[in-house]
Amino acid sequence: MNRTQPPDSPWYEDMGPGSGGLEPRAWYAESDAGRMSLNGEWRFRLSPGAASRDESFARPGFDASGWGTVGVPGHWVLQGAGGAPAYTNVVYPFPVDPPRVPTANPTGDHLRTFDLPAGWPGDGDVVLRFDGVESCARVWLNGRELGDFKGSRLPHEFSVGALLRAEGNVLAVRVHQWSSGSYLEDQDQWWLPGIFRDVTLLERPRGAPRDFFVHAGYDHRDGSGTLRVECAGAEGRVLVPELGVDVAAGEAVTVAVEPWTAETPRLYDGELVTSGERIGLRVGFRTVVVEDGLIKVNGRRVLFRGVNRHEFHPETGRAVDAATMRRDLVLMKQHNVNAVRTSHYPPHPAFLDLCDELGLWVIDECDLETHGFSGLEWRGNPVDDERWTPALLDRAARMVERDKNHASVIIWSLGNECGTGRGLSAMAAWIRRRDPGRLLHYEGDPSCRDVDLYSRMYPTHAEVELIGRRAEEPWGDAESDARRRAMPFVLCEYAHAMGNGPGGLSAYQRLFERYERCQGGFVWEWIDHGLAHPEHGFAYGGDFGEELHDANFVCDGLLFPDRTPSPGLIEYKKVVEPVRIEPVSGTGTVRITNGYDFTGPAHLEFTWAHEVDGVPVASGALTVPDVAPGASAQVPLPMDGVGVWTVRAVLARDTAWGARGHVVAWGQAETGAAVVPAAAVGARPERGEGLITLGPGVFDAVTGVPVRLGAVPVEGLRLDVWRAPTDNDNGAAWLPDERYGALWRESGLHRMRHRVDAVEVGEDTVVVRTRVAPAGVGLGLRTAYRWTADGERLGLTVSVVPEGEWRVPLPRLGIRFGLPAAYGGARWFGGGPGEAYPDTRAASVLGRWRMSVDAMQTPYVRPQENGARADVRWAELTDGGGAGLRAEGGEPFWFTARRWTSEQLDAAEHRPGLRAGGTVWVNLDHAVQGIGSRSCGPGVLPEHRLDARAAEFSFVFTPLG
Ligand code: GAL
Repeated sequence: MNRTQPPDSPWYEDMGPGSGGLEPRAWYAESDAGRMSLNGEWRFRLSPGAASRDESFARPGFDASGWGTVGVPGHWVLQGAGGAPAYTNVVYPFPVDPPRVPTANPTGDHLRTFDLPAGWPGDGDVVLRFDGVESCARVWLNGRELGDFKGSRLPHEFSVGALLRAEGNVLAVRVHQWSSGSYLEDQDQWWLPGIFRDVTLLERPRGAPRDFFVHAGYDHRDGSGTLRVECAGAEGRVLVPELGVDVAAGEAVTVAVEPWTAETPRLYDGELVTSGERIGLRVGFRTVVVEDGLIKVNGRRVLFRGVNRHEFHPETGRAVDAATMRRDLVLMKQHNVNAVRTSHYPPHPAFLDLCDELGLWVIDECDLETHGFSGLEWRGNPVDDERWTPALLDRAARMVERDKNHASVIIWSLGNECGTGRGLSAMAAWIRRRDPGRLLHYEGDPSCRDVDLYSRMYPTHAEVELIGRRAEEPWGDAESDARRRAMPFVLCEYAHAMGNGPGGLSAYQRLFERYERCQGGFVWEWIDHGLAHPEHGFAYGGDFGEELHDANFVCDGLLFPDRTPSPGLIEYKKVVEPVRIEPVSGTGTVRITNGYDFTGPAHLEFTWAHEVDGVPVASGALTVPDVAPGASAQVPLPMDGVGVWTVRAVLARDTAWGARGHVVAWGQAETGAAVVPAAAVGARPERGEGLITLGPGVFDAVTGVPVRLGAVPVEGLRLDVWRAPTDNDNGAAWLPDERYGALWRESGLHRMRHRVDAVEVGEDTVVVRTRVAPAGVGLGLRTAYRWTADGERLGLTVSVVPEGEWRVPLPRLGIRFGLPAAYGGARWFGGGPGEAYPDTRAASVLGRWRMSVDAMQTPYVRPQENGARADVRWAELTDGGGAGLRAEGGEPFWFTARRWTSEQLDAAEHRPGLRAGGTVWVNLDHAVQGIGSRSCGPGVLPEHRLDARAAEFSFVFTPLG
């Protein structure tokens, strides 16, 4: 490899990919050739800079007994071995002067000695493989330099057979945190140096293939599969016993097969047999094309219900073990996810084996992002500078060669957020030549010159609709516009799952289902990258003292860092469910629509259940006909009387990812008039000393605020409009409007004052007139509380009239009050079990729920508004003995309870900053503002904005116990 580097600068500042290594080839797990893992504890020394040219540690006999150790695979910064993680999204955490890197370049020297297994090496060679090292490495074996490489999330191999000894081999690896490669790896994630994937020795017997390429297409017209396995560097035979296939490598054979799809991941076990090695094959037959402007697999349009997955574990960073990879995929399948974009680099190779096995469509993305050049108007962007092209081509080849034999991989992606440039075109041309059987993706070039699909991130719903109609704004000249307009469309990123949210998923899904051009999207992103931290719980940017950082923008996943599903994932599961179950009003039937692309509902069982006020009344099985993909059937339900009917589609049998009974889809129908609580009227108010009594209520005579309801002390009951801004309320710094967090504060909504204008004691009412307004701002809410009672129960009607010019929506509109800490058990009839907001409520199940106030909290890594339950008819808060308070709504309301105030929630930066006090704070909201996705995308849709306007709402309270 020719070096391209400034004079006198070290190898790691060379723009080229490296030297001394082998050509890339396919990764595979099954072989009869020997392999030996070099994972484990290595000797380790960290130096603060790379200036030292002292390489004596690589010489045999070097005494490393004074060094510490580090676990391989791993990142030294996460193992207490020195240094610290650092998080930036776009900016490079070093001066941009490519290909130069800082003198302060943390350098980890790794040493390990090993003996060979008996019989090694046989008559062939041995290869030393690194599956991932960040950001570069220089390698010596037994004192001889093997070479160096960059390309952190890509494999690198060296031929080492001639250097190995039976015993006492010394492998030395020098890793620098920064290299020229860092300019190509500006993905939005933690910077985590180290040997973070496996290190392996692989026997390469004489007569073993150098590489092989499995081509397995499917012809949907006649149900045949055509298999051809190219084998490089050896003669071989291809055996697939189940299909009766026994052909020479290189020869094509056509047989009747069951195709591979993400819904039906049918794999055939086979073997590639050469004189030196038998390699296990798992063959999935499928064909992917763009035809009629659509991505089609096996002849059918597919709809991606996707997620973007970074590799992440809260303790081990990007060193992710096999169990965690499987866990990710099982969770995806259980939540109706059918596609993964491996943002923004090829994952651990074993992950793709699991995708083949469990069934997911994969966009495999190259390890390439140069986003930090955007701040320089893309001056010096490596993807548009020929000197970097060899490195780009090397990355493309390492991805394609490694992953080419996976049925699940249907699309290659050139990388992420690199602007535009000739280097990308060169990569695309190389990939097309090497693998014409897959599609090409890259989002960052609006000309779409190098790709097969039009891809965007974070477009608004309105824009997606235009694109769906192939009516988007014209682009470029007529010819390139026409080319792009004819392409299928995917959202490679949408629905930014940062903190509470994302809102607006249902509205996107409706567009994907309406417009065939819109073939779905990939939520950003799968998991929060919060690192386990002794003080903060989970740490985000800035928690390690970084000079530059992007705070909790690194926590924007559908899973919390510990892989607990967030409400966003529960919502996504419901929104993308592959079977729709919808009541057809007034008919006593439900419509069942098959949203799968390939399969019928034969793997599902359908059940129904009838509940009244959340109490089960009857249930049974439902017979559903075999509905073809895209078709629907209307099925009668025994819907007599009032109540809620729930129909569920559950797995009929255990699968690789879910047990029998796992709920795949559900729908509900409610019949009967809304239950409105009987009016609480008739009791007469009585004045006492400083107090007014009305039925079970006791009020402060001066402020009109209730102090007791029956035996239950009540604190601070009043109108509340504030919520601790969510990440989506705060919005992204680069998006101009709808950054409500700041606007609300400017409007003083977090510091509303309550002026009491009158406490009017009437015949059978107590009316408290107030004005709720912040200091120094011309906004106010004239608010009247009208209390009535019937002796046992207390009625409250709140009326609100806005005054002044309201230019911002309200965060919420309702009442809040405090109860003693003992009332920490909640029960309600309404939406549950988890939180919901106006545009995140698809997954809210109408029923009777019970949980502790503590369990009602959603543990967002950065504390913010959370935990509201939608559509609540009544709610109770009780102590262990059943004493407490019941609230019924005049209309369904939003119910929130927590052991801290919204102000405390707002002030906390990490979960441990929230401390339970002596009060349970309860919000009963008439309305709440939607969530949207403004932390990196569209805001709240107009129908979910809570504009300030006159409102009236009521509750009936009953003391319990
Ligand atoms: C995209 C980018 C992702 C991530 C996301 C925001 O622009 O491709 O890597 O930064 O925004 O979280």
